[in-house]
Amino acid sequence: MTDTSIDRREFLRELGLAGAGVLAVTSPWLKAFADVQHTNRERCRLGIIGPGSRGRLLMGFLTQNPKVDIVALADIYQPSIDKALELVPRAKVYKDYRLLLEDKGVDAVVIATPLNTHCQIALDAMEAGKDVYCEKTIGYTMDECFSMYAKHLDTGRIFFTGQQRLFDPRYIKAMDMVHQGMFGKVSCIHAFWNRNADWRREVPEPGLEKFINWRLYKESSKGLMTELACHQLQVGTWALGKLPQKVMGHGSISYWRDGREVYDNINCIYTFDDGEMMTWGSDISNKFYGLEEQIMGNLGTIEPEKGKYYFETIDPAPAFLQLLNKWENSVFESMPFAGTSWAPETARKNTGEYLLGKRPKEDGTSLNLAAFVEASITGRQPERIAEEGYYASLLCLLGHEAIEQGTMLEFPKEYMIDYPAYNTNMQTQQ
Ligand SMILES: NC(=O)c1ccc[n+]([C@@H]2O[C@H](COP(=O)([O-])OP(=O)(O)OC[C@H]3O[C@@H](n4cnc5c(N)ncnc54)[C@H](O)[C@@H]3O)[C@@H](O)[C@H]2O)c1
Repeated sequence: MTDTSIDRREFLRELGLAGAGVLAVTSPWLKAFADVQHTNRERCRLGIIGPGSRGRLLMGFLTQNPKVDIVALADIYQPSIDKALELVPRAKVYKDYRLLLEDKGVDAVVIATPLNTHCQIALDAMEAGKDVYCEKTIGYTMDECFSMYAKHLDTGRIFFTGQQRLFDPRYIKAMDMVHQGMFGKVSCIHAFWNRNADWRREVPEPGLEKFINWRLYKESSKGLMTELACHQLQVGTWALGKLPQKVMGHGSISYWRDGREVYDNINCIYTFDDGEMMTWGSDISNKFYGLEEQIMGNLGTIEPEKGKYYFETIDPAPAFLQLLNKWENSVFESMPFAGTSWAPETARKNTGEYLLGKRPKEDGTSLNLAAFVEASITGRQPERIAEEGYYASLLCLLGHEAIEQGTMLEFPKEYMIDYPAYNTNMQTQQ
């Protein structure tokens, strides 16, 4: 029997984590790499459907994986095929993805086509007996997402989604700390993703506008919600260990009035059963605050994207800073217009601590793909991985729906799946 397991310690080292407890509790899908006892086959023969910008980035990682052979490509746009062939010159080429699915030499597929095409391709692929890695957001509607997840259960095919933060060492470490209760009760998460860019791509001829710039049109995309929110909403439910009950939101086209149909400015509020809230916002006309998920507990805050955390109580400032503080306070207090609330509360800035010793080399994408390959080879679907992706997609689509309807929406019961709550130590600490 071939041992296909990646050395567990090596993997943990890669993650920058010391203990293995995290594997079992906070991020159970990481077990894809551990204790692999049996294999279906030695290698994974992959087909890439839609080797566009993202697809080729994924191929860059996959061609480094010694267990992968990219044997086939399917795309309806020749320039994408031509560029992809530079990475895998011997791959078979199909214009129609359905012909790739008939190819008995393909074990699994990566789907990186535009949002509105994912569902049919994924359903056909699983029906044809192929394991599926589908880019996020998995479906264009909640119904599509549900049918994709149901097909995974019915066919027993491996199903992964492009939610790479699930394999990002910073996030794994952050969630371990949150779930251990180190930040107390988390009542609030502020997630945002800001950019100063129009999101447009150059179009070689006018007839291709909607095909190339599919992200900007309603028939093929739900804009910032399906492109960006999907990642960060998953972080919120991972941190809180449960799903929100309700969502409301607003969207507008406030700056990029260039014929696009999707919003360039969005804010949503998701609320949970114990009063917790998660906000998600995106404005693509100002990038000053960039992107982050600020996970805020009564004992501290964690910012996984930055890779830092901050406890509410910090060591007292050195004596000379305390003196300065006292002096500043006395100056402010002597001014007629300023009460003490104007004065600096502390001389010490809370600069926080780093989650990991060094910045990880990448964002979890290569490990997500490696886990998919491992799962396809062993025939074992890792715990929670499909479910995390399913709910992330559902939540961004629900937010989009709330914006469109201009009302507060409850999480639809008919889309609930078996998803046990995380067993966390988060508690109310005064
Ligand atoms: N996980 C992430 O962080 C991340 C990042 C970027 C993009 N994505 C996702 O990846 C997907 C692709 O995004 P992109 O930026 O690469 O888009 P893209 O337009 O660059 O590439 C899409 C490719 O799919 C091809 N295509 C379209 N319809 C097809 C069909 N019916 N059959 C076969 N091929 C078809 C296009 O010709 C193109 O080559 C989207 O779902 C996007 O949300 C995920």
